[in-house]
Amino acid sequence: MISFSSLWRFFLFILLLDRRVFALDKYIAAVYEHAVISPNLTIKPVSPEEALKLMNKNIDILEEAIKRAAKQGAHIIVTPEDGIFGFGFTRETLFPYLEDIPDPEANWIPCTDPKRFGSAPVQERLSCLAKDNSIYVVANIGDKKPCNVTDIKCPRDGHYQYNTNVVFDSDGKLVARYHKFNLFMLELMQYDSPKEPELATFDTDFGKFGLFTCFDMLFHEPAVVLVTEQDVDTILFPTAWINVLPHFTAISFHSSWAMGMRVNVLAANAYHSRMNMTGSGIYAPDRPRAYHSDGESKNGYLLVAELDSHPSHSPTYLTALNWSLYATTNEPFPKESNFTGFVFFDEYTFSELPKEAGNLTVCQKGLCCQLSYRMTEKREDELYVLGAFDGLHKVEGEYYLQVCTLLKCASTDRQTCGQPVTAAHTHFKAYSLSGTFNTNYVFPEVLLSGVQLAPGQFQILSDGRLISQNDTSQPLLSVTLFGRWYEKDPPHPYSEMF
Ligand SMILES: *[C@@H]1O[C@H](CO)[C@@H](O)[C@H](O)[C@H]1NC(C)=O
Ligand SMILES: *[C@@H]1O[C@H](CO)[C@@H](O)[C@H](O)[C@H]1NC(C)=O
Ligand SMILES: *[C@@H]1O[C@H](CO)[C@@H](O)[C@H](O)[C@H]1NC(C)=O
Ligand SMILES: *[C@@H]1O[C@H](CO)[C@@H](O)[C@H](O)[C@H]1NC(C)=O
Ligand SMILES: *[C@@H]1O[C@H](CO)[C@@H](O)[C@H](O)[C@H]1NC(C)=O
Ligand SMILES: *[C@@H]1O[C@H](CO)[C@@H](O)[C@H](O)[C@H]1NC(C)=O
Repeated sequence: MISFSSLWRFFLFILLLDRRVFALDKYIAAVYEHAVISPNLTIKPVSPEEALKLMNKNIDILEEAIKRAAKQGAHIIVTPEDGIFGFGFTRETLFPYLEDIPDPEANWIPCTDPKRFGSAPVQERLSCLAKDNSIYVVANIGDKKPCNVTDIKCPRDGHYQYNTNVVFDSDGKLVARYHKFNLFMLELMQYDSPKEPELATFDTDFGKFGLFTCFDMLFHEPAVVLVTEQDVDTILFPTAWINVLPHFTAISFHSSWAMGMRVNVLAANAYHSRMNMTGSGIYAPDRPRAYHSDGESKNGYLLVAELDSHPSHSPTYLTALNWSLYATTNEPFPKESNFTGFVFFDEYTFSELPKEAGNLTVCQKGLCCQLSYRMTEKREDELYVLGAFDGLHKVEGEYYLQVCTLLKCASTDRQTCGQPVTAAHTHFKAYSLSGTFNTNYVFPEVLLSGVQLAPGQFQILSDGRLISQNDTSQPLLSVTLFGRWYEKDPPHPYSEMF
């Protein structure tokens, strides 16, 4: 006979086994913007010893950041893409920097078993940093995988090279590996894309995590799938992001993705002032918790902030959101006269904001954008326009956009509308922007004078309006609903190559 007390003990045992008992509602995240040391350009590959020497210089700096983050109680730290060996390689000169990175199923702690998969000094050191400081460490390194003629896609040099994110848990164990799917321009000369997009995730006591890299953020796979099908709470995002105003600035684009997808994003950018590369942050769906962007500094920068482990459990989480509801059901505002202009090589249809306050619509193809606004004063020396773009962007990649944007032109000359501008003096008391999007993937961006974010100063309504709230005391550079119509994208370039 089973006694009552042994049954009770059995239930208690089950209860304690359940990880939710130990789960944390909140956790502390860290990201490190790293001023990466790149090697001098060479035509011939350096020796593996020389490559390791350079990588150790970068890891020495990351080590300080990891220790500082751990001292501040961080559970996890993200470091940038290319953060360990930098930029400027060919396929051949990159090779000595690569290591064979095994599948995380191998259950491997490089710190305690460094030779199990051949020489892996970088993985060993990262694993020890995680273990010794009891913190999850996310880094971006290069993976090499031999292949042969039986595989028709095998490159001529007999191996694949992948841009790879790795995650070591607080015991130093390799728990995730992700091979970047959407390579950016010159990267195609260094790396191969995996045959299929990989969904790299792992579970912790402080939520479920997924990872992707830099340019991946523009595409459906794997970025969106991690959220919609894998239900991750936080995205880990190493990047080497080049800022392009007004819509592709790191801090505003990455925070808008967190808001649009309603997940946390930990974005660690590399720092490189000549390449306009800066801007890292800890972003929650409702607002950024910490961010940093400084094109003048020389050094790296550590950010630490608290986040909800499961943002979808938060009372501010929007469960139902229809990005086109308001604009498709509201009586359209009047159209003003319009003209065309370019934003990052895309031809927009623009209308001026002629008065201190008003309601207007501007359309392009199937997209109509509606704006209600009130300025404190209409200045003679500043020009603002409402713009619409509905088309395929084709520059550094090909992707279909539907964008509604209120922006300040670089001067009062209409031809400067869409050009980069960093300062403004016009204050808006209120604004409300919406659009008749054909997609439900829309990313809201607000930039203030000085290229600053506006945390807590705007919100999204469930009918798809982006509206100002509270303090709107700083002058405005742009307010944007950046829609991505993924179904209209051309196929991934890798599938076209064969
Ligand atoms: C690059 O070359 C310069 C001049 O020879 C040298 O001072 C510098 O340390 C080198 N940088 C690296 C990363 O090796
Ligand atoms: C190369 O091909 C052989 C024969 O098909 C196979 O056994 C071997 O595993 C392949 N090697 C690699 C690295 O794929
Ligand atoms: C950096 O930004 C400035 C100002 O927007 C621009 O003129 C310059 O071309 C950019 N440089 C790069 C490398 O993108
Ligand atoms: C949003 O609302 C519009 C208008 O009612 C409707 O046509 C559309 O299907 C809705 N979209 C989604 C994704 O629910
Ligand atoms: C542009 O303005 C004209 C009137 O000035 C209007 O008839 C037309 O519909 C507008 N086009 C767009 C795309 O807003
Ligand atoms: C804009 O439209 C709203 C109603 O949607 C109206 O209350 C407001 O007065 C209008 N503003 C201007 C300046 O026409």
